[in-house]
Amino acid sequence: MQKVYFDSAATTKLRPEVITKMVSVMEDDFGNPSSTHGFGRSAKNHIEQARKNIAKYLGVKASEIIFTSGGTEADNLAINSAVRDLNIKHIITSKIEHHAVLHTVQEIGVHHDVRISYVNIQKDGSVDYEHLESLLKTYPGETLVSLMHVNNEVGTILDIAKVGNLCKEHNALFHSDMVQSMGHLEVDLKELHIDFTAVSAHKFHGPKGIGFAYIRKNSGLRPLIFGGEQERGYRAGTESVHNIVGMDEALRLAYEHLEEEKEYVVSLKQYFVDQFKAHIEGVKFNANCSDLNHSTYTLINVCIPMSPEKAGILLFHLDINGIACSRGSACQSGSSKGSHVLTEILCEDDLQNPSVRFSFSKYNTREEVDYVIGVLKNFIEN
Ligand SMILES: Cc1ncc(COP(=O)(O)O)c(C=O)c1O
Repeated sequence: MQKVYFDSAATTKLRPEVITKMVSVMEDDFGNPSSTHGFGRSAKNHIEQARKNIAKYLGVKASEIIFTSGGTEADNLAINSAVRDLNIKHIITSKIEHHAVLHTVQEIGVHHDVRISYVNIQKDGSVDYEHLESLLKTYPGETLVSLMHVNNEVGTILDIAKVGNLCKEHNALFHSDMVQSMGHLEVDLKELHIDFTAVSAHKFHGPKGIGFAYIRKNSGLRPLIFGGEQERGYRAGTESVHNIVGMDEALRLAYEHLEEEKEYVVSLKQYFVDQFKAHIEGVKFNANCSDLNHSTYTLINVCIPMSPEKAGILLFHLDINGIACSRGSACQSGSSKGSHVLTEILCEDDLQNPSVRFSFSKYNTREEVDYVIGVLKNFIEN
């Protein structure tokens, strides 16, 4: 059976060069980076070199990069610490954020005296910037805005420069989850008014269980995890040296090959869109994701009209045909919870039909797209 992986927004395949680097560190540099002997110093050098490299790719200072266990921890670190240490009294976010942000903010709303505002989201998945500005004006003072750069379900791209400027104008702090954009879009943090970001290596062909937070210098944040002096006391715990080195290598390669790989994946997305339009009657591209100016080139999220019986077994059918993709529907049988993102932006009629997210990388081919379209067409028509 053919096996095709169209779920790169969930996680990506590791690059072989990343594996080679990680294995060499695991074999040869297994010392504890906190040890003062040669083995420890060698491991520590790897970490500090990775920190410098990553900071350079993003145009920031090495001391502003804090290694974490991934995107979730980095989001939690920035948001929870900002509330605790910076006297934040108002958080503006949206209902289509990743749960790493949404659930963190909800928890804060329950346990702290912090007002939570949700900025309006338009039907195409974009933020209503006028509403954002009015929220910033209505509650001046200690405000944190948390809005993601690229939405992981529908791919909408936030105008982070615009939001950064609005935050600056209204004296608010800005946190942006960049888990889906880092390694895929050019990001120059020094040009943007951003205070905190969260990044995860496994979304750009790096290892799982590692990421980083960018915390702007002199932000006043304090650690969430206490213990040793690792990460200058910001995040205690023995560092995952091989993962840090793997993440650095993955980010280096992502930026080194960004243009050519982007061009390839853009054409693959366009091909996917064209094939859908040509062969699947009534298909809709959720949140206008077929528009490459509006949505990331790495995914499409499609709503496919079909009978409720077929809708109930669609993902199972794709899976038994070797196709890996993600459920994007609101409420389908087989799952107790639907997508909070689609629930927010789709109309009632579209919510009745199944939606599926296909997300891709440089490892995918047009033949794989043809295979998926063939399996879907056959399923719908027979
Ligand atoms: C937008 C976004 N934020 C945060 C996360 C969580 O990252 P991690 O898996 O590294 O904890 C993900 C992962 O799916 C994501 O897509």
